[in-house]
Amino acid sequence: MGKNKGGKNDSEKTGQETSRETSQEIQQAPRKARQKRRPATSLVTAGRDPDSYHGFVNPPVYHASTVLYPTAEDFLAHRARYQYGRRGTPTTEALEQAVQELEGPQCAGVALLPSGLAAISAAILSVVRAGEHVLVTDSAYAPTRAFCDQILTRLGVTTTYYDPVIGGGIAGLMQPNTRVVFTESPGSLSFEMQDIPAIAEAAHAKGALVLMDNTWATPLYFRALDFGVDLSIHAGTKYFGGHSDVMLGTAAANSATVADLRNFVRLNGLHLAPDDAYLSQRGLRTLGVRLDRHYESGLAVARSLEQRLEVLRLLHPAMPSHPGHALWKRDFGGASGLFSMVLKPVPQAAVFAFLDALELFGIGASWGGYESLAIPFDCTSLRTATRWAPGGPTVRFHIGLEAVEDLIADLDQGFAALADAAART
Ligand SMILES: Cc1ncc(COP(=O)(O)O)c(C=O)c1O
Repeated sequence: MGKNKGGKNDSEKTGQETSRETSQEIQQAPRKARQKRRPATSLVTAGRDPDSYHGFVNPPVYHASTVLYPTAEDFLAHRARYQYGRRGTPTTEALEQAVQELEGPQCAGVALLPSGLAAISAAILSVVRAGEHVLVTDSAYAPTRAFCDQILTRLGVTTTYYDPVIGGGIAGLMQPNTRVVFTESPGSLSFEMQDIPAIAEAAHAKGALVLMDNTWATPLYFRALDFGVDLSIHAGTKYFGGHSDVMLGTAAANSATVADLRNFVRLNGLHLAPDDAYLSQRGLRTLGVRLDRHYESGLAVARSLEQRLEVLRLLHPAMPSHPGHALWKRDFGGASGLFSMVLKPVPQAAVFAFLDALELFGIGASWGGYESLAIPFDCTSLRTATRWAPGGPTVRFHIGLEAVEDLIADLDQGFAALADAAART
């Protein structure tokens, strides 16, 4: 410690960012060449380096800003594996490396952001310039729309919303200045499946980039970069964390977008807090087993709901009755626990009675945790390119890790409350 002096490093003083590659080269040098691993193995091994942490299994949580250099010369030459807390610590690197491995061989780098929405806005802003145009799916997460309508507009970037099931027809909406086609598949309330390879082909033919909110599937069930997506975005708040106790966004770039993404994140000073990075990498270790259970239980609950007389239809891409089922089957390796149900028309009070009667389903928005959720929703005011007319009231479920028989029994008593309320109105 004696000779180490604190203070701002050179990049802090000059505002110039030094090369991250330099620090990564230093860090990766001692690593052994590794065989290609399956995702279940990567979830356990990626981003872990016990040799660097005195043998402890998990990475330490570094609460850090200043990094001290041994000598003045080292300081000026940036001779240090880590340079400044905001630029990365062993804790954030562990998560970054794990996500990069999961995103697959097309992934050239990952940015960690403080929320899923921050990852969406940072990814878009990293590649658009004033005077450009973006195409956004009409099924996008509502705050994504609000960001485009309120922030992009202010910066001179225009947005056109498009029918989520447009597929290769997106070519007809491309303008000479279209820079981004933003996708979310399936839509996280309405569950339209998008033909991502067809959209990517049409977008790339016109020189545009494809961004995808891939939160629903996670890289385990859809590795977006392999299907032509240029920036794959996740609200890690959901399944990566998996315990409803962390906010996280990740943006994974291919070689076409990585430099812009890194630069944008650095120059905006975006950074993920150490405890959230730690919890997120810990959540990833069990993502595979959790997700398989969400998939299996979600499908079992959806199938049982489909049998009920009160239900008009299910919006679940893994069910053959879903209009996007063929696309899901072609491209996705599984389904998460999030889907919606359309009820036959009943008064709103009956829907609320159903939801309020449920004991195992919380009424809350942020899904992906271990617990089940159910919320009422209505996309009418969220659509500008398409009309939302599902045919009855809609409820979105997140199926958690509880015993599926208990969930179905809880829904049964919810339907009894629905029938009582409907009879009274
Ligand atoms: C599909 C989707 N994308 C993005 C987000 C935003 O994530 P966060 O809440 O971490 O900002 C959400 C949150 O509900 C979501 O459902």
